[in-house]
Amino acid sequence: MLDRTLKSIAQLIAARRPGHSLPADLYTRADVFAVDMQVIFHNHWIYAGVEMDVPEAGDVSVIEFGKASVLLMRGDDEEVRAFHNVCRHRGARLLPPGLHSIGNLTCPYHQWTYRLDGDLVHAQHMGSDFDHTCHGLKPVHLRSIGGLLFICLADTPPDDIDDLAAVMEPRLAHYDLRNTKIAYQEDIIEEGNWKLVIENNRECYHCSGTHPELCNSFIALDFGYDPDSQSPEERAAAAEHLQRYEAQTANWEAMGFPSRAVEHLAGHATNFRTQRLIISGGGQSQSMDGKAVSDKLLGKDGRTDLGDVHLWTHNSWHHFMGDHALTFTVIPLSEDRTIVRSKWLVHKDAVEGVDYDLQKLIEVWRATNRQDADLVGMTHAGVSGIGYQPGPYSRFTEYQLENFATWYIERLTAFGYADEVSHGL
Ligand code: FES
Ligand SMILES: [Fe+2]
Repeated sequence: MLDRTLKSIAQLIAARRPGHSLPADLYTRADVFAVDMQVIFHNHWIYAGVEMDVPEAGDVSVIEFGKASVLLMRGDDEEVRAFHNVCRHRGARLLPPGLHSIGNLTCPYHQWTYRLDGDLVHAQHMGSDFDHTCHGLKPVHLRSIGGLLFICLADTPPDDIDDLAAVMEPRLAHYDLRNTKIAYQEDIIEEGNWKLVIENNRECYHCSGTHPELCNSFIALDFGYDPDSQSPEERAAAAEHLQRYEAQTANWEAMGFPSRAVEHLAGHATNFRTQRLIISGGGQSQSMDGKAVSDKLLGKDGRTDLGDVHLWTHNSWHHFMGDHALTFTVIPLSEDRTIVRSKWLVHKDAVEGVDYDLQKLIEVWRATNRQDADLVGMTHAGVSGIGYQPGPYSRFTEYQLENFATWYIERLTAFGYADEVSHGL
């Protein structure tokens, strides 16, 4: 007899084995994807981009998360605001995804016209009793944290975004991201579920086997190791590395640069981790030789000895270094396809070909992204087929996947999906 029963989401949540990858259906089913978009992407703070996506008044960035399309617009007063990309007349999309530069925002359907602050300023044939002031664009919650833009589509957003701001504002201050520019941006569509993209990013177990370019500057040991599987020499080197971290972290903090790891993961609505990491090789930047790749350093007081401030959230990862910054946005498209949007930021006055060589700037992470996309694609294929059963995370090198999976299950549970009679979608 064939088992034709489709497990409920509550049953999938109950079937999750701590310390193991998730049941296949949580990665592969379209109805689970719809729940993920509703719970995780439409009710939590999500990373949407940087202020420098819209450097000038009239610049608009349109970004889509599931059924939500959001306008990030810089007004004449230099403020960045977020609105739903939906006309208040009969609901037409106002602009397609991507970057635009406008004066006012005019709907292509019947030409209702909005100002950059969202107010409706023109709507023909609506009668003298029509109240323009009630028909401005619908705002979306927006927080700029050190120049990083976070949006929340919920009516009442989680208030622990304040924790992210409190930790990251001082860490990002040195890099002065509002005085950068995007030197390069690219989208990769990875053939896998967004949670596999995040899982792959939360471990460096795969780094030495996959990322020769990144390993010139990245230290896999920073993300854990099993001392019992190391040779005595490797164990001694790891112990020495830990001591070096302690000393370097204390030194950075004494100079006024917050550096210690902060983890705000399971148990919280807003998921993030940050730490200032030592860069290996040349010690300055994630480049092929570890040396700075842009001569015009970030911030007013440019320096190359402050390592790499890394930041993770549930849909992003970032590296802030002396000469450039990297930011990656995870945008789910369907249960089996995910955009990873990468941006390389340099000082706003840095000139390509003079202060930096674009190829040198982007070569490490362009290669790394492609290698990671292959890993995600091969994992999604395996998870989708016959024969997969959840496998054990390494407690030494993959504990951050366990943290992420626990957070994810907690969030679905908080929204009622662990109850047997689940929400209808
Ligand atoms: S739908 Fe936008 S003006 Fe009619
Ligand atoms: Fe990787």
